[in-house]
Amino acid sequence: MSVAEGYSKTSRVLRLIRPGALIGLLLTASAAASAEPGIQTPSIFDPRSTPASGIVDYSNLVLGICFAIFVIVMALIAITVVRFRRRPGDDDREPPQIYGSNQLELAWTVVPIIIVFVLSLVTVRTIFSLQIDEKPPGWMPVTAVGHQWWWEFQYPERGFTTANELHVPVGRATFLTLQSADVIHSFWVPQLAGKTDVIPNRENHMWIEPQVPGLYVGQCAEFCGTQHANMLLRIYVHTPEDFERWARAEAREAAAVPAAAAGRDVFLTTACINCHTVRGTVANGRFGPDLTHLMSRQTLGAGVAPNDSDHLKQWLIDPDHLKPGALMPAMGLDTQAIDQLVAYLETLE
Ligand code: CUA
Repeated sequence: MSVAEGYSKTSRVLRLIRPGALIGLLLTASAAASAEPGIQTPSIFDPRSTPASGIVDYSNLVLGICFAIFVIVMALIAITVVRFRRRPGDDDREPPQIYGSNQLELAWTVVPIIIVFVLSLVTVRTIFSLQIDEKPPGWMPVTAVGHQWWWEFQYPERGFTTANELHVPVGRATFLTLQSADVIHSFWVPQLAGKTDVIPNRENHMWIEPQVPGLYVGQCAEFCGTQHANMLLRIYVHTPEDFERWARAEAREAAAVPAAAAGRDVFLTTACINCHTVRGTVANGRFGPDLTHLMSRQTLGAGVAPNDSDHLKQWLIDPDHLKPGALMPAMGLDTQAIDQLVAYLETLE
């Protein structure tokens, strides 16, 4: 499957995540998973990471207890209705009136107390395992910053920043510090962890410890403006060796390729550098995504299009066409400058 097909399938699946469709999506998720090689369908009931599996275990316990109560109550109602229904020949006298039963009242007081007690113990344990506010030693720190409408990922120990596609190693915990550059967003990758709000002027924390390598998709889960639905997340879980290779490549400065010098000049002499960083050049804007290794990413505009020459060109000509409301302006460059710019951006591997 090509990146473009994978991308369009993913975004189609993600657009289904609306309140009405959510339950149906969850129910069909396991069936759909086999149809999408390489991309995990984002079902909370198919966890691939430590905190997510804890949440599912907890949910299953609560659902199991509720289901057992439902079955018992429904069975008692059915038995009562059938057994004590009015039969032909019944006389019209009132049945014997009974007042109270100590055994029954004791039972329906004590049993719910035990259930509530057990549930509160499990709830507290689950909450404590999820809420860790300080990075434990050995965990990898990543700062995720929500922007309208894309994600910035900073790797403070490695000294680089990337966007929209988070790469982490398998079997090692990643400690996420969540910040917002503007409004409230929410970070949600259903198979890896529960969702955590991303709030301006506040730091929230969450963590993931993926157990299976692969690509996991998610999205912003808090309405944050016109392009909220196109604020997608892709998390790549690598073997430790692959992760090291990726991180070393990301840490390098952008190479200056002589063949793309014309496009580089266009980039460095227009407003591009006010919003974008390319390490190794004078471009150090922070408003838009870091482009130092733009071509290492699979998608453009936080998952709105595949990252290839055609879409890159469309994006530079008119970002609004691909992502209406996007805060990147159309630069109004002529065709030659656009082509040179695309050629330069494609050297940012
Ligand atoms: Cu960011 Cu919704």
